[in-house]
Amino acid sequence: MTLQDLIELKAKALGQAQAAADAAAIEAVRIEYLGRKGLLPKIMQELKNVPNEDKPAFGKTVNELKNELTDLIKLKQTEFSSGGGAAPGFDLTQPGQWQGLGTRHPITQITDRITRIFQTLGFTVADGPDIETVWNNFDALNTPADHPSRDEQDTFYLKNGDLMRCHTSPVQVRYMMEHKPPVRIISPGRCYRRDTPDATHSANFHQVEGLYVDQNVSLADLKGTLSYFARELMGPDVKVRFRPHFFPFTEPSVEVDFTCHVCHGKGCRVCKNSGWIEILGAGMVDPNVFKAVGYDRSNVTGFAFGMGIERITMILYGIHDIRNLYENDVRFLSQF
Ligand code: PHE
Repeated sequence: MTLQDLIELKAKALGQAQAAADAAAIEAVRIEYLGRKGLLPKIMQELKNVPNEDKPAFGKTVNELKNELTDLIKLKQTEFSSGGGAAPGFDLTQPGQWQGLGTRHPITQITDRITRIFQTLGFTVADGPDIETVWNNFDALNTPADHPSRDEQDTFYLKNGDLMRCHTSPVQVRYMMEHKPPVRIISPGRCYRRDTPDATHSANFHQVEGLYVDQNVSLADLKGTLSYFARELMGPDVKVRFRPHFFPFTEPSVEVDFTCHVCHGKGCRVCKNSGWIEILGAGMVDPNVFKAVGYDRSNVTGFAFGMGIERITMILYGIHDIRNLYENDVRFLSQF
């Protein structure tokens, strides 16, 4: 018998033992290989005929065969003995108990999806704190002192004069203060506003911010990027519309609508018969923002955008009440 034969035999023996389906079958395997007149004692005798240089490997393999097979047979014997090897009184034939798998929260799922789309375009993820300075959240973003969003009725202020950020835009400021252009980031995160909770409002919600700054970034780049995003998110047939708007930190500013996901633009109850759904705010970074963060306004341009994750999640999953997303009712969450 050659070493190769022996290796094959080992595989065969272990395979047979593994396949044994009852106590009789495993006993037959035991007798065939380990019994007094079995194969293994015979092979032991043959060891003396094996060429000297093969002896160590041959001996080692024989030992492995013997030990592994003995262990496996023992295991199988316990399994087949009454009580099935488990604790007494444990009935292995009873159906198991299903331990439900957890799912990721829909907000997390959609955040990940949005993030992945922009990552394919070379955007990286940047983070910022929920508690912000007034300067990062408003002043550096060119928000006038009398802008209504600064009002205590709209924004949560802390005793020390800081605030809970009311959008993810301060991450733009933080990032530009620390990095030279070019900049290509997105920043998902929590935001806070003094909104009375109802079906579409929550005092705590999530946004994804995007910022792209380089030489010669144009409004056409913004449109191309967001159109690509729309198709990746909603499918190839979605159309995108850019409406003039105003944000303090972008000029020009736009609001971006996607064709309604329910009626595909024909007009229905969901889109209030307009065929369009408003999805995000965007625009070209206002030169005053570049000035605030110390960028050379004559040398760079950029675009920024921000979108509400709850809104997109509700649209994609057909959720009618934003409060469902925060109640942590497993019956609701396990559907996603
Ligand atoms: N920060 C704006 C909002 O909360 C969204 C936005 C971000 C608009 C970036 C333009 C540019 O509504």
